[in-house]
Amino acid sequence: MRKKIVAGNWKMNTSLEEGKALAADVLAKTTGSEEAQIVLGVPATHITAVVETLGGKNGIGVAAQNCSDKVSGAYTGEISASMVKSTGANYVILGHSERREYFSESNEELAEKVNQALANDLIPIFCCGEPLEVREAGDMYPFVKEQLTESLFHLSAEDFSKIVIAYEPIWAIGTGKTATSEQAQEMHAELRAHLASKYGQEAADNCSILYGGSAKPANAPELFACPDVDGGLIGGASLKAEDFVAVVTSF
Ligand code: PGA
Repeated sequence: MRKKIVAGNWKMNTSLEEGKALAADVLAKTTGSEEAQIVLGVPATHITAVVETLGGKNGIGVAAQNCSDKVSGAYTGEISASMVKSTGANYVILGHSERREYFSESNEELAEKVNQALANDLIPIFCCGEPLEVREAGDMYPFVKEQLTESLFHLSAEDFSKIVIAYEPIWAIGTGKTATSEQAQEMHAELRAHLASKYGQEAADNCSILYGGSAKPANAPELFACPDVDGGLIGGASLKAEDFVAVVTSF
């Protein structure tokens, strides 16, 4: 059966010292017996230090927030999936809406990033989600399904089995406006049915689909109670260990 996962997305926050302290605080506040797999999505500059700070304890995973679609070479400033892997990370967040919007990442480019991540033994946390105008027009299901089709459906069944999906409605990210648990459940069920249409029901049932967008201790229990919501991708609330751990233990 699918795993429950709660991943923090620190985004472009924390100095190295602050990042190490935050990771140490999360470690101190957890026991390793939590129902959910915990993942910290940290700035690339902090990965090695956070991996060292965690020391493999409590099964806490570490994610990069991006990787290149290229293998290596003259791409100044880029970080390849093999470099990320060599730092000790085991996950990579791909296709976050901020990357799609501010760095023009397309579904096609993300398909390449997914390939690079998998080729380097990193688990992609693949983000999808619709902007407000698409939701208001009622077109959110086909819009988000297309993101999955174009970036994931080239994968073999074996590779697909390694993917984690995060549904993040763009209008809920950092806005304090959360999707209702009904909206989250409906979308997650639609996405799971879409995955089943390609990979079969069992593979779809085994895929963890996380919710992201202003998830916090106050709303996580209701969101995580939805049958198709398998955890969360947590931005703002992951920057305070107390709040993040409260979300982690909201199942
Ligand atoms: P938020 O961010 O929890 O601050 O809304 C979530 C995300 O962007 O992953």
